[in-house]
Amino acid sequence: MQEHVNDEYVKRAQREGYRARAAYKLIEIDDKDHLIKPGMTIVDLGSTPGSWSQVAAQRLKGQGRIIALDLLEMQPIPGVQFIQGDFREQAVLEQLEALLENSRVDLVIADMAPNISGISDVDQANATYLTELALDFSFKWLKPGGSFLVKVFVGSGFDEIVRNMRQGFGKVATRKPKASRDRSSEVYLLGSDMRKEV
Ligand SMILES: C[S@@+](CC[C@H](N)C(=O)[O-])C[C@H]1O[C@@H](n2cnc3c(N)ncnc32)[C@H](O)[C@@H]1O
Repeated sequence: MQEHVNDEYVKRAQREGYRARAAYKLIEIDDKDHLIKPGMTIVDLGSTPGSWSQVAAQRLKGQGRIIALDLLEMQPIPGVQFIQGDFREQAVLEQLEALLENSRVDLVIADMAPNISGISDVDQANATYLTELALDFSFKWLKPGGSFLVKVFVGSGFDEIVRNMRQGFGKVATRKPKASRDRSSEVYLLGSDMRKEV
């Protein structure tokens, strides 16, 4: 807790009006990779408390669309449509797909992290499953040329995720933004230039 309070990114988030220090992960990645452009349709999976949606909304500059989804409630953000539900449930996926009304997506950002059980194999398997679901969604809904940014925990299943992403994206890169704690096994995978046929 003390570490969190003293954390430079926590202080910065409070000063700059972001709901979580996680904002600086997306900011750093987007400053480098230029993922978010006005006019885009973006899906934010695992969005609560909402700092990635805040960053995305700022960078869309009022042009485009964001659909955010989380198990937990999220306080409203102007320009962001929110669905509360479990992404693993078919009914929730259908709700998201219905909002898209057959129009494809430019960018999927997925920062989902399952509740930790403390049993590392179980936690890793749960996290990998969420990543795979997010990847399936991206393969189905991204426009050709679109991008997918996802949090992944290095461990079992990681290499297979990278292999699967390479099937669908022209380029797959790893990102470890400064705001991601060194001792955390989390990294971000960025798939870009989604192929026409997957
Ligand atoms: C690290 S937080 C996301 C932080 C967010 N990117 C931000 O910037 O505010 C991870 C989120 O994933 C959500 N999550 C975990 N499992 C989920 C699931 N099965 N379906 C939807 N959301 C889930 C959690 O509720 C949590 O809010």
